[in-house]
Amino acid sequence: MAKDPGRVLIFDTTLRDGEQSPGASLNLDEKLAIAQQLARLGVDVIEAGFPFASPGDFDAVQRIASNVGSADGPIICGLARATKGDIKACADAVAPAARRRIHTFLATSDIHLEHKLRKSRAEVLAIVPEMVAYARSFVEDVEFSCEDAGRSDPEFMYEVIEAAISAGASTINIPDTVGYSTPGEFGALIDGINRHVPNIQDAVISVHGHNDLGLAVANFLEAVKYGARQLECTINGIGERAGNASLEELVMALHVRRSYYNPFLGREVTSQEPITAIRTEEIYKTSRLVSNLTGMAVQPNKAIVGANAFAHESGIHQDGVLKNRLTYEIIDARTIGLTDNRISLGKLSGRSAVRARLEELGYTLQGDDLDDAFARFKELADRKREITDRDLEAIVSDHTQQLEAYYQLLGVQVSCGTNLQPTATVTLSSIDGEQRTVASIGTGPVDAVCQALNQLVQVPNELVEFSVKSVTEGIDAMGEVTIRLRHEGRLYSGHAADTDVVVAAAQAFVNALNRLVNGLQHQPLHPQQAPLPVL
Ligand code: KIV
Ligand code: ZN
Repeated sequence: MAKDPGRVLIFDTTLRDGEQSPGASLNLDEKLAIAQQLARLGVDVIEAGFPFASPGDFDAVQRIASNVGSADGPIICGLARATKGDIKACADAVAPAARRRIHTFLATSDIHLEHKLRKSRAEVLAIVPEMVAYARSFVEDVEFSCEDAGRSDPEFMYEVIEAAISAGASTINIPDTVGYSTPGEFGALIDGINRHVPNIQDAVISVHGHNDLGLAVANFLEAVKYGARQLECTINGIGERAGNASLEELVMALHVRRSYYNPFLGREVTSQEPITAIRTEEIYKTSRLVSNLTGMAVQPNKAIVGANAFAHESGIHQDGVLKNRLTYEIIDARTIGLTDNRISLGKLSGRSAVRARLEELGYTLQGDDLDDAFARFKELADRKREITDRDLEAIVSDHTQQLEAYYQLLGVQVSCGTNLQPTATVTLSSIDGEQRTVASIGTGPVDAVCQALNQLVQVPNELVEFSVKSVTEGIDAMGEVTIRLRHEGRLYSGHAADTDVVVAAAQAFVNALNRLVNGLQHQPLHPQQAPLPVL
């Protein structure tokens, strides 16, 4: 049986696989804020990125390693293809962390070998131990993944795994890369590995999986029954295509149903010992932070963190819940950090109250950043009586998107109404100090604003999503706008909030354009789609 750490380890890949979600790219400050919150959440490992992808990705992993990778903090891990260049970059990036890991991978399925790697099984069997040993020359802790394990020939995979462990890998990850497996098959795969890999007792078995058939969480839970002790997952389940297994669903399933899972971990059915080290009260906050910073909205009916997950609309349910919560609720909302007795801030709240509340929400701001956020808070408090957590989140996530921005929106003015041609005048400044104003007409005020911005920026793009929702209830609520632009097949998202939805739309469009321009300048390499360089 594989090495047993005594509980189920949570390996968070929001900042690597999650960031591979179309349009979800994050800037350095945003990544750092998420990493800090993941540490508060209590994840065991943070996969902070793919350092070889670009200098920006390298810097982000290195910054996270220095700021979050303390001796009592999570292990900081970087991804590397099975090649020396990737592994060296990864080793350098994670070096500042007290506990560091290199995660290297190579595909083992015939379809990947033939069409992507153009390598024989014998070649793969030679590369894997060589690259694992190379990674071990930098760090003690090496993880090896058999990419597309779900469609690999198990007999061949057993040989690859044995070679990886012999070369020093202490975690073996089994990814269902294309989300093809069913729970029965996935559990059997883990069982087979445990029974047929002779040195499996020297490594922890990890699982990784995508949600193409909506089965990722179910597959992982089955894998736990057969000895998997590390789960690779993301906040809100974001990730490539249909996403990854969702951290909150896995953790809460193992928590709520621990009497069912306990025996598979060799514990008494009634044991109250937590199965993971996650501080569940941090779950909701983390979900909000990731959703705000990535611009990836959480569907209302999403398990655990969706807006409706704890709402009881139907009269019958409400009656039952009022009499006894257990009639229709299996989780107390407070377990994931949802409380209904929040103190709202207002016009008279001071800087330290705002800072403290922001810290509770996962945003640690200092110096100019705090000054800017506080100024925006005051501005909003003049227009809105009560400032809620949602308002604060909107203020700060807007602000973090504008850090490192190429363009700044300096002003927007529109005229529109009955029998008027909607017209927008927009002023933009660029990083090199140039300031320009143009006016444009459109089919409506938002269209006029976008036309004006496109004239200023001159980068062809297609608007593929424009959505507006109110941040809170009430007529004075801020409107939150999310925009997605497509340029040469890639998506770039931007979001912003303001009590004036046209201003929010203009800012969201500028935020998306900034990501687009940034993407053009630093096109990061995709770890799984880029060809493997010659060793
Ligand atoms: O889905 C996958 O196979 C991956 C690997 C790089 C672990 O993300
Ligand atoms: Zn993946």
